[in-house]
Amino acid sequence: MHLADDAATRALGARLAQVIVPGLAIYVYGDLGSGKTTLARGLLRGLGFTGRVKSPTYTLVELYTVSRLNLYHFDFYRFRDPREWRDAGFSEYFNDAAVCLVEWPEKAAGLLPVADLDLRLEFAGDGRDLSIHAGTESGEACLTRLVQMPP
Ligand SMILES: Nc1ncnc2c1ncn2[C@@H]1O[C@H](COP(=O)(O)OP(=O)(O)O)[C@@H](O)[C@H]1O
Ligand SMILES: [Mg+2]
Repeated sequence: MHLADDAATRALGARLAQVIVPGLAIYVYGDLGSGKTTLARGLLRGLGFTGRVKSPTYTLVELYTVSRLNLYHFDFYRFRDPREWRDAGFSEYFNDAAVCLVEWPEKAAGLLPVADLDLRLEFAGDGRDLSIHAGTESGEACLTRLVQMPP
C-alpha cells in the first residue's frame, strides 16, 4: 500500500494495533528515515499508550506496558556483538505474552526467531510504500483481520 505522509504511516500503525495479539514478532525493514519508528508510534497510540515514544537507538529496546499486552520496541541499528544478545537475555523477550516490534532486524539475523509479520517501508515520491508479509499462521490470521477491517 502507499502511505502518502507521516499521518498515513501512523494511521496504519494504529490499524495494526487493532489486530495484533500477544506473542507476535513483527519485523520492520527499511532504510534510515523510511518511517519505522513512526509506524511504532502509531501502533503504540493505537494500543492506548499516551506517553512519549522514544527511538530505542541507543538502548536497543524500550518496554511499553499497555492495557492488553507488553510491547518491546527494538532497534538493532547499533547492534554489533552477538554476545550482547545473550548478556541482555533478548531471547526471553520473544515470548507468548509479549509483542516484539523490531527495527533493523537484519542486524540481528540468525539470532531473532522467525517473524510472524514482516513489514517493509520504501521511499516512494514524497511518501512511502509499505508491504506486509506473513511468515506464520498467527501472522496470516493477523493480516487477514487487517485487510478485512473497515476503512
Ligand atoms: N508515509 C510517509 N511519508 C512521508 N514522510 C514520512 C512517512 N512516514 C514517516 N515519515 C517521516 O519520515 C521521517 C523519518 O521517520 P522515522 O520513523 O524516524 O524513520 P526510521 O525509524 O525508519 O528511521 C520522519 O520525519 C517522519 O515524519
Ligand atoms: Mg527508527
